[in-house]
Amino acid sequence: MITSTERDELLGVVRKIKGFIKAEKEFGIDELILKQPGKPGFIEEAGRERLEDLSKKVLSCKRCGLHDTRTKVVFGQGSKNAKLFFVGEAPGFEEDRQGIPFVGRAGELLTRIIQSIGLKRKNVYIGNILKCRPPSNRNPAPDEIKACYPYLMKQLEIIRPRVICALGKFAAQTLLDTTKPISRLRGEFHTWNGIKVMPTFHPAYLLRNPSGKREVWEDMKKIRNEISKITD
Ligand code: URA
Ligand code: URA
Repeated sequence: MITSTERDELLGVVRKIKGFIKAEKEFGIDELILKQPGKPGFIEEAGRERLEDLSKKVLSCKRCGLHDTRTKVVFGQGSKNAKLFFVGEAPGFEEDRQGIPFVGRAGELLTRIIQSIGLKRKNVYIGNILKCRPPSNRNPAPDEIKACYPYLMKQLEIIRPRVICALGKFAAQTLLDTTKPISRLRGEFHTWNGIKVMPTFHPAYLLRNPSGKREVWEDMKKIRNEISKITD
């Protein structure tokens, strides 16, 4: 016999699994991928396929009004094995033209920031809260974030980086579900579903306020230290 508390617990687990499978199905993933001990190749291959399936879906997305004005969807770029995942705000002019994140002036600065902690752009992952450019680079609207954020959540779940670096106010506030200003959030680790999150200033902000680079450097050193602890 099981107690009623145990029964409720079991029902809760079943409900969670059902919700998980439903969410996967919505994203066009109709097989359950389980970790196979001793077969790292299997899970890596599955990760690559899942990212590709997701990107196909996002490239034709019409969940919000931005599909009307976009040139290209900017899904994300980088390694599926990335230990560090950068989250920006939304594509700008160049990103919308090329379909690649952070390729404009802010992107050049981000590339240098990545190199400053001894990493290469191709070994991290770079994505945004919004996959399509808001006209004239206006701020993301709440309904656009609501429509698009699940795609980023999926990318994070597939890649499962060791550290997420949230660039600027929109990335930090969305991931951490808070309205606190970036100046208060940055400088220390928070968590997103068990993954460490370091909010820091956005490179576009640094282009306008170069004195903020000192703080970003402090934040990047903390990230470098965290990554250096990884042994597997
Ligand atoms: N700014 C962002 O937030 N993301 C980009 O991809 C480019 C600029
Ligand atoms: N305000 C923002 O939106 N982002 C920053 O990085 C700094 C200030």
